Amino acid sequence: MVVILLGPPGVGKGTQGGLLVDALGWVRIATGDLLRAARRDGTALGQEAQRYMDAGELVPDDLIVAMVREHLEALGPDTSILFDGFPRTVAQAVSLDAMLPEIGRRVDGVLLFEASDEVLVKRISGRRSSPEGRVYNIHFDPPKVEGICDVSGSPLVHRADDHPDTVVRRLEVYRAQTAPLVSYYEATPTRVMPVAGDAPMSEVRRRVHEALQEALGVETEAS
Ligand code: AP5
Repeated sequence: MVVILLGPPGVGKGTQGGLLVDALGWVRIATGDLLRAARRDGTALGQEAQRYMDAGELVPDDLIVAMVREHLEALGPDTSILFDGFPRTVAQAVSLDAMLPEIGRRVDGVLLFEASDEVLVKRISGRRSSPEGRVYNIHFDPPKVEGICDVSGSPLVHRADDHPDTVVRRLEVYRAQTAPLVSYYEATPTRVMPVAGDAPMSEVRRRVHEALQEALGVETEAS
């Protein structure tokens, strides 16, 4: 099974992706997390990506596609894949549609998360992240000890691209460059599954499992 998590910044893709990985054992390929890891490691990719990410712009398609290809090649043939934050342009979707058949796969479904800008901005302003990629929220999902990751004990940070001006730009970029993917997938056999994301995490999780079960027959304990 190959499923894409699609939706604007802060809508809960990473949160629900993590819950799905825990529930189903799928492999999550999250391009934002991979880029942040590359930045921390100081790789050439990380250095190149930094200026785009900090400005709220998309990293060029060729860099992203090469990074995803490398991760796909390392997966076993029966691995179910959850893409989070990829594809993000029609050109990336076209590249993915060319890559997957090489490993006998295709995109089965797109979980399309939606929420108002007001909800997105509040969630992003309260987000705190660990260096390992675990995500908290000071309003909705705080850590047990303020500023410290429950799991690793690392200090939590406010992402550089979560500052208000950059968030406004990320929302514009989403509408201009990523939202057209909805029509792209609606014109293919891929199932597009809208999920209202403006509810508590447990309710959004229930909606995700229900959508996967109804559209793709994925059985989970929560469906
Ligand atoms: P990326 O890291 O992918 O960021 P994003 O898509 O903007 O998404 P976010 O991580 O902001 O939000 P999310 O939907 O995962 O929400 P989360 O679960 O954290 O990309 C960052 C940058 O990298 C891009 O701007 C670009 O520069 C570059 N990039 C990445 N991929 C690329 C690509 N394919 N092509 C080109 N460039 C690329 O939740 C948000 C907060 O809300 C958290 O605090 C969470 O705890 C809380 N929360 C979640 N759900 C709920 C709920 N139901 N109720 C209350 N709070 C909730």
